[in-house]
Amino acid sequence: MASGQRITALFSLLGLSLLLLLSARSSGKPLDECPGDGSCQSRRPPVVLVPGDLGNQMEAKLDKPSVVHYLCYRKTETFFTLWLNMELLVPLAIDCWVDNIRLIYNRTTHTSSSPPGVDIRVPGFGQTYSVEYLDPSKRSVGMYFFPLVQAMVNWGYTRDDDVRGAPYDWRKAPNENKEFFLALQKMIEDMAEKAGGPVVIIAHSMGNMYTLYFLNHQPQAWKDRYIKSFIALGAPWAGVAKTLRVIISGDNNRIPVIGSLKIRYQQRTASSTSWLFPNPKFWPNDQTPTANYTALDYERLYSDMGFQEGWMMRQDTVSLVADLTAPGVAVHCLYGSGVATSEAFRYSEKFPDEEPTVVLGDGDGTVNLKSAMQCGRWAGQQKQPVTMKELPSNEHVDMLLNYTTVVYIKSVLFSP
Ligand SMILES: *[C@@H]1O[C@H](CO)[C@@H](O)[C@H](O)[C@H]1NC(C)=O
Ligand SMILES: *[C@@H]1O[C@H](CO)[C@@H](O)[C@H](O)[C@H]1NC(C)=O
Ligand SMILES: *[C@@H]1O[C@H](CO)[C@@H](O)[C@H](O)[C@H]1NC(C)=O
Repeated sequence: MASGQRITALFSLLGLSLLLLLSARSSGKPLDECPGDGSCQSRRPPVVLVPGDLGNQMEAKLDKPSVVHYLCYRKTETFFTLWLNMELLVPLAIDCWVDNIRLIYNRTTHTSSSPPGVDIRVPGFGQTYSVEYLDPSKRSVGMYFFPLVQAMVNWGYTRDDDVRGAPYDWRKAPNENKEFFLALQKMIEDMAEKAGGPVVIIAHSMGNMYTLYFLNHQPQAWKDRYIKSFIALGAPWAGVAKTLRVIISGDNNRIPVIGSLKIRYQQRTASSTSWLFPNPKFWPNDQTPTANYTALDYERLYSDMGFQEGWMMRQDTVSLVADLTAPGVAVHCLYGSGVATSEAFRYSEKFPDEEPTVVLGDGDGTVNLKSAMQCGRWAGQQKQPVTMKELPSNEHVDMLLNYTTVVYIKSVLFSP
């Protein structure tokens, strides 16, 4: 198997989105340049980028009482890259990696924390590098927002000044990321004041759920003053069926050397995954996410798979954005379609410790189409405009570097 293929597949290990673009795809014509007629200078709104699940770098520093394998580092002098670091995602080393990136849920406080002696930090808040490339060595395999940011620089933007990233700990849901929202609010205010005009938020995947939660918690006067518009790319508004498989049986994306059940151990500890289960308010009962469990049966589902803490995490997070309250800002909702997307999973009596048979439906390969389109409901619910743009044949991550998407974003940024 080509190493590129294997590497790409590895990104799916954590289940949700999986970024990543093979080098072959990154070539091609340069994205739109400034035409030289001064149009780029005309009122350029500052831009904040909010990444999706797995969508920014994470670093760790270790001083652990014990390790799971003699190969694992017990102590490090400095922070090192935990995500994305290809060297850690190979057989054996991955056991150490799982033991460092997993979370431990406290049933009393309803919060998650790293294992003893593991210190995790999210680098680069307010800068773009942590969301442009997930791998600091800038290997093309970890390229994420880079093509868009580079296009923006060509239009006159300056990295870390009027285009900035808002990375966060994507293992957790918003209820466990309160400092992130405070920092985001402050950054938006600073950028708007410096530019003398409101900010455009561009979010991808789960970053949209974070953004919606954020906007739902801001007063309308604040939004009127500081937000020009919200460009939502590939948003799982009503959840993602794929999360069910991740939690039930793990998702190794068919890489034989990585056992699904091994990776499931880590995948289950991320409360953001249970948060994004299909939202029962928006998934009709006749389209059951798993054989015999509908979106109304999650308590029984967690119980039957022996994962009680998952049900607690689900309850902690279920109401965060469950009503899909309109954001109260102008929305441009871009969503991919025409790519086979997991919609339901069938298990035999070996449930939950086996690979399911997958039922496919429409979507972007990760987010189901019916979920991605839920932003359309806001058209009648807020006075600010809601624009829907379908991106046919666009995969969940590839849509970020599609020329059509980039041109669309440019037209939004430079519209009056
Ligand atoms: C959970 O948190 C409580 C309160 O901080 C603490 O007393 C308890 O030891 C924690 N439980 C575990 C298993 O760490
Ligand atoms: C699940 O549903 C199928 C189809 O309705 C049925 O044949 C099967 O017996 C059910 N399994 C269980 C465990 O209830
Ligand atoms: C880019 O998007 C357009 C539609 O918006 C689609 O037709 C085309 O296939 C996409 N290209 C790639 C490389 O995904």
